[in-house]
Amino acid sequence: MDIAELRSDTPGLRNRVHLNSAGASLMPTPVIDAVVDHIRLESEIGGYEAADDASDAIGQAYEDVAALLGTSSDRIAMSEHATASFVAALSAIPFERGDLVVTTRNDYVSNQIQYLSLAHRFGVEVVRVPDAPEGGVDLNAMEETIHRRRPRLVAVTHIPTNSGLVQDVDSIGTMCRTRDVLYLVDGCQSVGQMPVDVERIGCDFFSATSRKYLRGPRGAGFLYVSDRVLDSDMEPLFPDLRGADWIGDDLYQPAPDARRFETWEFAWALVLGTGAAARYANELGLVPIRDRVRSLAATLRGSLSELPKARVLDRGDELGATVTASFLGHDPASLVKQLRVRGINTSSQSRLDAVIDYDDKGVDGALRMSPHYFNTESDLEALIEALRDIVRA
Ligand SMILES: Cc1ncc(COP(=O)(O)O)c(C=O)c1O
Repeated sequence: MDIAELRSDTPGLRNRVHLNSAGASLMPTPVIDAVVDHIRLESEIGGYEAADDASDAIGQAYEDVAALLGTSSDRIAMSEHATASFVAALSAIPFERGDLVVTTRNDYVSNQIQYLSLAHRFGVEVVRVPDAPEGGVDLNAMEETIHRRRPRLVAVTHIPTNSGLVQDVDSIGTMCRTRDVLYLVDGCQSVGQMPVDVERIGCDFFSATSRKYLRGPRGAGFLYVSDRVLDSDMEPLFPDLRGADWIGDDLYQPAPDARRFETWEFAWALVLGTGAAARYANELGLVPIRDRVRSLAATLRGSLSELPKARVLDRGDELGATVTASFLGHDPASLVKQLRVRGINTSSQSRLDAVIDYDDKGVDGALRMSPHYFNTESDLEALIEALRDIVRA
């Protein structure tokens, strides 16, 4: 990877150290151009006319996202963000009272709220499989739960928002496939930071967003939908005229492909930006991306562990790019502000972002630092020096 060239392709790096790719990364020039060019075209010839003009490029965006996930474009639905993808998938499952949703203690906060809402409205039971002593979901307990309880759905967040943990979604996929159990993976943080192959994972749904490690624009996301789902009668609860055809007074026909999960109105500029981001990542290679982000994150964890008052919070057999730490006597949100004044972007997590994980760790939240491949060792040194200063003061 030519880091200098990649950095020069990222205007946002000119004046800042950006260590917030788990929040929203920085778009590279081809992504910015794809979005801006289409907005300009819309302003010149009209929004509907611009969409027609760009239909080949839009088709290519689906191809590029599909290539990123190891699947074909007819299994990709574009959306506005990861949560929109996730709820479209959830809404397609015909839950009945007493059905079981099996998940983990580290699933994303909004997903946890949605499981609880399903429990509240439909009487669904939510079971969180315990963690293994080293962190991450206990795979034996997961297998036993799936085997004994035959859940309606297993839902797992690949990489949580609140720590560097990477869950073993492949092994859980095998458990689900063996027993023909529906499997939904939230890949919001993993897509763009490591190779993802939905066939290997064996999931039925994989939800993601564009703006994080993929380096796409805000306000865009996508959903992978398996053949098993498409060949069954599953469809989102509220399809619109894009997801289905109204073919008779009292009859509609769901789209045969993943478009069933889309709605009609789209910011096509953002879809084009998402495609450009997927192409950019595919060309760089997800294996070198993963290796570099993990090496930067490991270096950062090492340096943080030597700082006074700092405690690195990431636990698990496999750790990704997200680094979380608490600082005795320092509120994470205030650390973020003080770092930002120094030109360093990070983000903070409060207890409400992950009540289970942060209560287990005995902290009120964390400073979240999320390097991407465009960061350098000197970015990490700048962060450590700034934190040393702030903590000393
Ligand atoms: C693991 C995970 N899942 C889902 C989401 C929600 O993504 P979005 O805001 O695009 O809906 C986030 C956002 O931080 C996340 O970290």
